[in-house]
Amino acid sequence: MKQTTDFVKMKNNGEKIAMLTAYDFPAAKQAEKAGVDMILVGDSLGMVVLGYDSTIPVTMSDMIHHAKAVKRGAANTFIVVDMPFMSYHLSTKDTLINACQLIQETGAQAVKVEGGDEVIDQIEALTKAGIPVVAHLGLTPQSVAVLGGYKVQGKNAAAALKLLEDAKKCETAGAFAIVLECVPQQLAKEVTSALNIPTIGIGAGPHADGQVLVYHDVLTYGVDRVPKFVKRYLNSEEMMEEGLRAYVKEVKGGLFPEAQHSFNMKEEELLSLYG
Ligand code: KIV
Ligand code: NA
Repeated sequence: MKQTTDFVKMKNNGEKIAMLTAYDFPAAKQAEKAGVDMILVGDSLGMVVLGYDSTIPVTMSDMIHHAKAVKRGAANTFIVVDMPFMSYHLSTKDTLINACQLIQETGAQAVKVEGGDEVIDQIEALTKAGIPVVAHLGLTPQSVAVLGGYKVQGKNAAAALKLLEDAKKCETAGAFAIVLECVPQQLAKEVTSALNIPTIGIGAGPHADGQVLVYHDVLTYGVDRVPKFVKRYLNSEEMMEEGLRAYVKEVKGGLFPEAQHSFNMKEEELLSLYG
């Protein structure tokens, strides 16, 4: 199992960090087998596995439920769990209680919080309490209503400078990595070289120290449209639908099950069954 310090070493060695989300046991097993360095139990689960239209409805118990399954599937991979909407905004004390619950009940290694300046105290308190923190800057989906949609962030000089300052503050507060979502590649490059901790990009171009994508986007599984920054490595949707259609067709046609799928009774048992 990698440690937070290993990710900093990877940055220093120029070794890219491959991160992927996972929300359940089979996906976690696949991610571990595929060799991902870090699994994110993202609150994107609200959209991709629970069918909400944002991450706002996701609760602590949703996160715990899914993170437990992920841990069972990927016992040897570093797991980061998203702190869900409003679980780290009420007070530092609430933040610590919630993060403690996420870590203790699921066995995950770290938590992720969205925001820079606004959550610096929380990042510091969590780190001081021994809970590793990943920060998340740029497009922060829990604030989508305030941001006015899922848009690229930090496009003008002022916003870019603010993000760069926020990133430095996150590092100073103790974050061991920063996710940069939907920012121009030039800004991601600047932030990456300004920090000692690794940046993990999603829609942030090739210069980040690592990349993260959503499992369902990578495999085209249950997602209708994907953002520009996603590369679809496989169309599992097509393959799965084909498999399921064949199953339904064979059941309806009486073609399934066949002899090899069926159990038999011994002759003497049969005789007494029939009387
Ligand atoms: O919830 C999530 O999947 C995330 C990633 C997109 C970084 O936060
Ligand atoms: Na998230």
